[in-house]
Amino acid sequence: MEHLVSSWYNDGSLPESYIVPPEDRPGMPSLGENIPVVDLGAHDHTTQILKASQEFGMFQVINHEVPRNVIDEAMSVFKEFHALSAEDKAIETSKSCYVYTSTQNYATERFHFWRDGLFHQCNPLQKYIQFWPEKPPKYREVVAIYTAELRKLGFRILEFIAQGLGVNPDHFRNELGENETLLVNHYPPCPDPSLTLGLGKHRDPVVINILLQSDDVHGLQVFKDEEWIGVEPIPDAFVVTVGALMQIISNGKLKAAEHRVVTNLDLARTTASFALNPFYDTLIEPAKALVDASNPALYKSFSYNDFISKYRAAASYSTAFEQFLSSTPD
Ligand code: OGA
Ligand code: NI
Repeated sequence: MEHLVSSWYNDGSLPESYIVPPEDRPGMPSLGENIPVVDLGAHDHTTQILKASQEFGMFQVINHEVPRNVIDEAMSVFKEFHALSAEDKAIETSKSCYVYTSTQNYATERFHFWRDGLFHQCNPLQKYIQFWPEKPPKYREVVAIYTAELRKLGFRILEFIAQGLGVNPDHFRNELGENETLLVNHYPPCPDPSLTLGLGKHRDPVVINILLQSDDVHGLQVFKDEEWIGVEPIPDAFVVTVGALMQIISNGKLKAAEHRVVTNLDLARTTASFALNPFYDTLIEPAKALVDASNPALYKSFSYNDFISKYRAAASYSTAFEQFLSSTPD
């Protein structure tokens, strides 16, 4: 806890342990290309989602039906939480709710990332809300409403994806997306963004992730065709990321986006990642409807528990589950 970037960045220092190796340092992102923006009110949104998920593994959604005030209030309490004193942020740690910095492997990682995180389970609410932060005082009430809205949106998007893939529209509804988590990221201003990263290149270890970014503060980049593309913050939009599990379930039809976060010199950036995950004992495998003699399964099956424990234990954030994505069946 004493390592939280927000507790010491004010002294203006850039500790050596935050300097990333030269090959990982951010250069200028490529200009000209933007990730697709899908209007969920448009008649062809399913086609657009499928295309974006194949080409970019990432897209933004507008007209998503999550009320603007719900989003604004959630972003306010997320910012307020990270602005608390280190003492107030030192919530009682449980398996389902904790505060950390850089990655879960802070003690063993080769270098650190410029971010603090608040993580918690979301569903079922009655089981987990008691572990959520008590400060700011409105946190629980506001975030309960926010996560309920995001859950609805998440299942709508999964249904569109299922339709687009041609699998049962309920394929994701029961076991595959019920275990929802929220990760509230905070990236304080950094004295030298050219030497640091907020988060290293990774794929999300989830089915899909729905990210809320602060208005106007850039930081997220996606890797496409060997280039880094900046993801424009659009007010009132969400960024949807195809996760590694979706790549496997779709038998490679959809692509998990590789992405990273760069830091800013003057501006703090707060984001919230709402992830739809499977239950721990759920078997992850290519959907049966997508596999036949001419489309053999590209990935082995494994339990989500196996996957996530290996992911959490892995030394390298970026390569943690390459083994699952490259483990073709015998
Ligand atoms: C994540 C992530 C991006 C961001 O939480 O996995 O990639 O911009 N976040 O905070
Ligand atoms: Ni991510």
